[in-house]
Amino acid sequence: MSTPSLSSWARQVSPSPTLAVDAKAKALKAAGKDVCGFGAGEPDFDTPQFVKDACAKALQAGQTKYAPTPGIPALRKAIAEDYVRRGFVGMAEGNVVVSPGGKMSCYLAILATISHGDEVIIPAPFWVSYPEMVKLAGGVPKFIQAEDTTGFKITPAQLKAALTPRTRMVVLNSPSNPTGAVYTRAELTELVALCVQANVWILSDEIYENLVYDGQTTCSPATFSPEAAALTITVSGYAKSYSMTGWRLGTLIASTPVAAAVADLQSQISSNATTFAQFGALAVHQHPDQAKAALAEMAVAFDRRRLNLWKGLNAIPGLTCYRSQGAFYLFPNIRAFGLSSQEFSARLLEEELVAVVPGSAFGSEGYIRLSYATSDEIIAKGLERLARFCAKLKR
Ligand SMILES: Cc1ncc(COP(=O)(O)O)c(C=O)c1O
Repeated sequence: MSTPSLSSWARQVSPSPTLAVDAKAKALKAAGKDVCGFGAGEPDFDTPQFVKDACAKALQAGQTKYAPTPGIPALRKAIAEDYVRRGFVGMAEGNVVVSPGGKMSCYLAILATISHGDEVIIPAPFWVSYPEMVKLAGGVPKFIQAEDTTGFKITPAQLKAALTPRTRMVVLNSPSNPTGAVYTRAELTELVALCVQANVWILSDEIYENLVYDGQTTCSPATFSPEAAALTITVSGYAKSYSMTGWRLGTLIASTPVAAAVADLQSQISSNATTFAQFGALAVHQHPDQAKAALAEMAVAFDRRRLNLWKGLNAIPGLTCYRSQGAFYLFPNIRAFGLSSQEFSARLLEEELVAVVPGSAFGSEGYIRLSYATSDEIIAKGLERLARFCAKLKR
């Protein structure tokens, strides 16, 4: 007997290619292979002890039941207060939703605002999940291509040309996964002004907001004007900043109607984020000095690795790499070798046991993504192998 077919949603969705590369590298490692993994999108540090202690205390104290869907009140309040300090005007607890991960925050933001046939503008290279999420909501992803020649940033002219009467949302992700690009305030101001003029939602994914280098700073579209604030849904979380990827805790802050819609969707899809985990996140807000110290320790290590990897990549004949200023990724250009990014990555893993993610996964052929959330030793060894691999290829 044949069973009914899977849904159109299940049939159209592509599984996350970044998680797939990471799983493959981990499987090879488990089989005893000496893999240099540059695929992972997660910090290689432990979660800060004070955060773990706060979570363990809550667990022992019986915080093991359902919590209010949008999050425990103390955490929502602390998040709102943090954003207000950063220039988010008029935001309070009711504007905040704590979700099971930044990924869920993005998806709920899209579900709350996108209807069938609505166009969503996504600058490429993009984080792999945006187009899939838009399609799962019935929307239509529209891409704007940015290259290394413009620092992987879209220009106002490109955005203007992509906006149509059917556009309902523009996705902004600064610092970016996969390129590490960080928009300056001036650059974002122009893009946000166009979004306001077109009256479209802005999904500002700021999950890497605390990981910037070279003296770069980040800024949030929601702080630009009351009009921008009304249109912007700001997503973040604890995973990347505090090495809490497995905790599954994301945040979202938006206007009251959007936040309420997101909370309603979450009440039907997942209910609250894990209750005792939220108490760990609360410690981040209650102990800002300890949080800052933990973050600084990671950021110093990331910056050192970024520069070593960036220099090493540019020293390999045929590779060129833009010096990005955020997150923990570099996105070198491999076009000189004439291979597709998929083929380049597959052969690199097979022949030299170096795991990277093909640029095609992020909507940009001709590049590969390397995460430097890995040790100095792996970076040095991986660079040697990559140089050997590139030397074998024809240019
Ligand atoms: C750009 C971007 N947004 C959101 C997320 C989701 O993070 P989380 O682990 O909190 O779901 C990621 C994770 O890789 C990301 O790279």
